[in-house]
Amino acid sequence: MANSIWASLEQSGLGTTIASNEWMFPTIETIHVFALVTVIGAIAIMDMRLLGLTSKNRSVKAVERDTVPVTWIGFAVALITGVLLFVSKATTYMANPYFLWKMGLMALAGVNMAIFHRILSKGIDEWGKPGGSVPAAAKLSGALSLGIWLIIPFCGRVIGFTLGVYY
Ligand code: HEM
Repeated sequence: MANSIWASLEQSGLGTTIASNEWMFPTIETIHVFALVTVIGAIAIMDMRLLGLTSKNRSVKAVERDTVPVTWIGFAVALITGVLLFVSKATTYMANPYFLWKMGLMALAGVNMAIFHRILSKGIDEWGKPGGSVPAAAKLSGALSLGIWLIIPFCGRVIGFTLGVYY
């Protein structure tokens, strides 16, 4: 059942057009790379501020205000281009463990981010101001986020090198 969904996506007009055109896949992948470096860069700026490694002269709230919109714009572009790449070889990607790991790790990063914004960021307005240090739980969340966002592009890169291995 699920397999037939991936097969019909791959055989759709969009899927076959992207797969058979010489320049479409590489162009979309280039935009995907621009988008993902934007996402990871913006997230890393915020995470490193939480850890007290960079932007130490700025409040955490100010860094958050700057980075969150950039993160979402980059993620939207990564999502659209990622889906376009996916439909061109949907069955192959669904059989590839690195693709599945990448998706799972992105979900984990999303849960970590939601916990940070909904629970851990209470009092964020004071962090980085005199007498207002970043709580250990928020630092841990930042470290976890950095680690996850380091492994995700690794999985993304491995997919292309293992396409003939899993199918
Ligand atoms: C911000 C989140 C994302 C990151 C960090 C990321 C990372 C990467 C990386 C590093 C590559 C390899 C690029 C290259 O070989 O030059 C890649 C390719 C790819 N990504 Fe993403 N990606 C993200 C989101 C997504 C999403 C949401 C999807 C699908 C729904 C997706 C699907 C793909 C596909 C299908 C490829 C092509 C693999 C190949 O055949 O080489 N990506 N991604």
